Amino acid sequence: MSELVVVGDPSLGFKVANELGVKFIQIEDRVFPDGEIAPRILVNSIEDVKNRNVVAVFQKKEEENVNNYVMRSFLTLSTLKRYETKRLIVAFPYFAYARQDNEFRLGEPVSCGIVAKIFEETGVTDFITVTSHVHRITGLEKWFPKIKAYDVSGITALGQFVKSKVKSPEEFIVFAPDSEGLAWAKEMADLIGSHQASALEKKRDVNTGEITQNIVQDVDVKGKSILLVDDIVSTGKTTARAANMLRRKMGAKKVAFTYVHPVHSPGATDLLRKESPLFIVTTDTIETSAKGVEVASVAKVMSEKVKQIL
Ligand code: R5P
Repeated sequence: MSELVVVGDPSLGFKVANELGVKFIQIEDRVFPDGEIAPRILVNSIEDVKNRNVVAVFQKKEEENVNNYVMRSFLTLSTLKRYETKRLIVAFPYFAYARQDNEFRLGEPVSCGIVAKIFEETGVTDFITVTSHVHRITGLEKWFPKIKAYDVSGITALGQFVKSKVKSPEEFIVFAPDSEGLAWAKEMADLIGSHQASALEKKRDVNTGEITQNIVQDVDVKGKSILLVDDIVSTGKTTARAANMLRRKMGAKKVAFTYVHPVHSPGATDLLRKESPLFIVTTDTIETSAKGVEVASVAKVMSEKVKQIL
């Protein structure tokens, strides 16, 4: 892999390059007064990437608009293609727009498919993402018919964090806030040695966005500590509501929050902190400096996937 280089956003890209033991070339952001962008890869010459295998690692910045994150990824990849890279692997850890993987209401776009198609058009050969929303319904192949696409687990990094953080992690009962997250709860339970993984029942009204969550009666959580697992915390309502229900209605003693993507819309982590959690941990698929939130890195799982591919 000597000809491999990592091009990317500073913090996560740098970590991936370190894990792989290869050169890192940073992307510099440039924004024009009207908001247009022209991201620049800080190469010294085209030879830095020409005929080389390149991993392009993107990481959404904390305050960055999600459209900016997507657009600068497309633009950067098109530059790399123009410079005639050999294998062009994109690491897009937070798969933005993956949630809209269906026409939920008449007249809506299937955004997930459109974003995937543009990635294919930029000329990438492989797409790596972390715990994406689509994989549990359809698998990534459906969206990337022309290239190889991989979904690596962000739960691994969270599980390792939990094991290093608490003395007896196996004593947690692991819960997902909705049934779609049950696979992640089971994965986490396996990682930390817990024998119980379960999920609440959640329903979302597609018109109002209003969520209702129901108690699952057959799990006794009285006096127990709960580890909540989810892919995304956006408004924080799903996770905080689940914690509240488990504590106040079902009698759980304490909760801890683990989730892969800190989408964090304003006020989200305040909602989580109101539940007096044992700890809150997320990953660095998106940058975050939110108060009281610890961060485990996905650099290792992504690098392992790159090694496997090449
Ligand atoms: C939903 O299906 C996802 O797995 C998350 O539970 C959801 O995106 C969280 O959103 P919020 O934090 O806005 O409740």
